[in-house]
Amino acid sequence: MEGVVDVYMRDILTRIGGFDLCVSEFVRVSQHLYPASVFYTLCPELKQGGKTVAGVPVHVQIMGGEAHVMAENAAFAAELGAPGVDINFGCPAKTVNRHDAGATLLQWPERLHEIVSAVRRAVPENIPVSAKMRLGFSEKTLAMENAVAIAEAGACKLTIHARTKMEGYRPPAHWEYLRPIAERLDIPVVANGEVWTPEDYALCREASGCADVMIGRGVIARPSLGREIAASRSSSVMGNAFNWSQILGILAEYHDLIEGMANPPRQAGRLKQWIKLLARSYGEAGVLFTRIRRLEDPQDILAEVIATKERALDAA
Ligand SMILES: Cc1cc2nc3c(=O)[nH]c(=O)nc-3n(C[C@H](O)[C@H](O)[C@H](O)COP(=O)(O)O)c2cc1C
Repeated sequence: MEGVVDVYMRDILTRIGGFDLCVSEFVRVSQHLYPASVFYTLCPELKQGGKTVAGVPVHVQIMGGEAHVMAENAAFAAELGAPGVDINFGCPAKTVNRHDAGATLLQWPERLHEIVSAVRRAVPENIPVSAKMRLGFSEKTLAMENAVAIAEAGACKLTIHARTKMEGYRPPAHWEYLRPIAERLDIPVVANGEVWTPEDYALCREASGCADVMIGRGVIARPSLGREIAASRSSSVMGNAFNWSQILGILAEYHDLIEGMANPPRQAGRLKQWIKLLARSYGEAGVLFTRIRRLEDPQDILAEVIATKERALDAA
């Protein structure tokens, strides 16, 4: 997730556990081959075998509308050590769509086919090429055709965010639309959208008929979610949701990790963003957010996090 799930977030979440795979923030491919520095910035894990510290592979996400340049950049990502390449056909951002990339391409199945084929041809056979799409641009009528185009072009897996671009992030996610697609394709279809709890995960699998689920915001709001889900499938994994005090410890750790980030306002922005998203699962995070929302210095935010943790421990 662009601007949210960066190398630091991937590190923290995969150490907590429950993930088979991560995808990097997108490399916005437009007119030319990017230098290695662009790939290393968005996916620093390329310098450590394409995996997070916890050993979870990170596939490089690319987004763009020109098949040959997408192919060129995908091949370079593979050369730099990407364990897989994922193509984004789901981004709803106006600026992206205006420039012929992301979800706008869902209006033309033949273009999806052209892009996926070109990328597949350019990337060595042993490196998986996958794609992610939404159910459509304004309507869902092309969902099957788009999915078939992507599969026939050689993608090894397709993630579907169960909403159209026009539906944005508005609940519900239409998991049931994925079932006929999953039944028709002979590649795995991964369900995505509105999974916030282990119960949602089970409902999503049941409604979509998909064995695998990709989770975005849900795991930011509830960092133990991946581990809880893994625990529900295996008795050897710990599976309780974190308490508020544990969450505050994770926030302090995140603060320390992002200290390497270029500028303090950006660090403060990332901390605020995470605290705000946590409020979806932890009411206490809403209270903390009102306290830190005007702070510009990440050290001041950390001080509030630590003071809140001390108060939480005293009260326990
Ligand atoms: C801030 C933000 C950034 C996102 N960035 C990406 C992205 O780079 N690539 C992508 O395929 N989807 C991106 N998404 C969409 C999510 O991956 C996911 O499809 C969507 O949020 C629905 O799933 P969720 O309900 O589990 O979050 C982003 C979503 C948000 C809210």
